[in-house]
Amino acid sequence: MMFAFVSMIVLSACGAGPSSTISTTPGVLPAVPPDYAGKSNPFGSDAAVAGAVVFKTNCAACHGDNGLGDGPASQALDPRPANLAALNQKAGDDYLYWRINTGVTSTAMPAWKGVLGDEQIWELVAFIRTLK
Ligand code: HEC
Repeated sequence: MMFAFVSMIVLSACGAGPSSTISTTPGVLPAVPPDYAGKSNPFGSDAAVAGAVVFKTNCAACHGDNGLGDGPASQALDPRPANLAALNQKAGDDYLYWRINTGVTSTAMPAWKGVLGDEQIWELVAFIRTLK
């Protein structure tokens, strides 16, 4: 009886802990957390022009000017910065917005919430949408 009780706690602790944000299945993106899921860009695609400037200043050193993951700082990083042109093919606006806001645990990707304004983060999402 006691054993069953304890193992239930252990099981629920594992299942309900803060979700690790790193996908374990190659090619399958992790689910967007509820706080971010379903959000779409309120500024539209025109924001990409401003987003390009924000990207060059804050992101290109790692992700490269064209978002391919090949910026000057990328060589030294493990894991390497994401290829955002490839990510653009499979991620929704809400996924990009979430990742930029909160960063990626256990990688060099910082959380930008509080560093950049909300409008700038949406501008970045619009810019990433233009990458091929
Ligand atoms: C210090 C280097 C660095 C900087 C600066 C940086 N990133 Fe990243 N970024 C990374 C790394 C490393 C990853 C993780 C790649 C992985 O998980 O394999 C990442 C991941 C991401 C992801 C998620 C990729 C995925 O597959 O889920 C997005 C989106 C992203 N970065 C966008 C940006 C944007 C936009 C900026 C600028 C505001 C930025 N990054 C600045 C290094 C950086």
